[in-house]
Amino acid sequence: MRWQLRAVPCMESTETMPAAAIIIRSLTKVYGSLTALDHFDLEVVQGSIFGLLGPNGAGKTTLIRILTTLMRQSSGTAVIEGFDSLRDGREIRRRIGVVSQENSLDRYLTARENLELHARLHGLAKRQYQPRIDHLLELMGLSGRQKDFPDTFSGGMQRRLVIARALVHQPQVLFLDEPTTGLDPQSRRAVWEYIRSLAGSMTIFLTTHYLEEAEQLCDRIAIMDHGRLIALGSTQELKDRLSGATVYEIEFAGQSADQYARLLADMSCVIGISRAERSVTVTLECWECLSEIVTALNGAAIRRISLKERTLEDVFISLTGEKVRE
Ligand SMILES: Nc1ncnc2c1ncn2[C@@H]1O[C@H](COP(=O)(O)OP(=O)(O)O)[C@@H](O)[C@H]1O
Ligand SMILES: [Mg+2]
Repeated sequence: MRWQLRAVPCMESTETMPAAAIIIRSLTKVYGSLTALDHFDLEVVQGSIFGLLGPNGAGKTTLIRILTTLMRQSSGTAVIEGFDSLRDGREIRRRIGVVSQENSLDRYLTARENLELHARLHGLAKRQYQPRIDHLLELMGLSGRQKDFPDTFSGGMQRRLVIARALVHQPQVLFLDEPTTGLDPQSRRAVWEYIRSLAGSMTIFLTTHYLEEAEQLCDRIAIMDHGRLIALGSTQELKDRLSGATVYEIEFAGQSADQYARLLADMSCVIGISRAERSVTVTLECWECLSEIVTALNGAAIRRISLKERTLEDVFISLTGEKVRE
């Protein structure tokens, strides 16, 4: 049965946003006594690049496995392109591409044969899949190595081949579970380029624990931990969610940092302070307090006052804590 695709209402205006490619309602997965997914709710708009962030063990792979019909949920619903994950597995599998956390390439087939096998499993005719495979090998920069076996490839090339394989049957939704884990920075950037080049032509749902990756690629980001959704928005919206406090670094020209650090520490609008050799970093209750600080520093030899921008990592740590996982 095909669900009616529902337009997602936009909160700020009466306009409607594009239809949802993925609708998740109260999705729960229990492994014995462990609740890996806990009443998880999410909607992903068609054509967007969506990033799911979370520390190890947060439940990212569990969620992807349910959405890609590799595993059944304990309760709740997941609808992909209008199809229900429990009832319409076949329909969903025809419409999705999956790049799992581990590269699952057939080592006894060449790169091209890996793609051809996938095409045949999806019931494509040779005349359909041959030009498509040529195009994908070109797109992923693997044309020159198509007759080689995957074992002879670098980690980055194997990853690109797995992505190419997931695209052979022209999926509407592409799932990527930690697409760049274990890759060196150059290969990671190359994979980002390929993912970006797909933007708009399909919905992309990726998981990662690299904050920079989410920031670079994703239109919207969800942060999850302990099986629950804890934050959702664009990178900027997530950064704005942190308290209104702002942090400034004040660099002194002479040896006066000590003297002014003491003076600043006593001010009521300063809620945090730290010192380096020639500079003092102050956390202010709000940006309006800056003028009080400037007045207090009247006459000081100041080289620079700079605003310290928040990073997505600040948001992530503030939401998930500093404790190391698993
Ligand atoms: N097949 C399984 N059986 C039992 N526990 C599992 C299984 N798969 C995952 N888990 C547990 O569920 C939690 C979520 O795991 P996972 O979805 O792999 O998280 P992530 O991908 O975010 O690292 C972890 O505590 C993990 O140990
Ligand atoms: Mg995982």
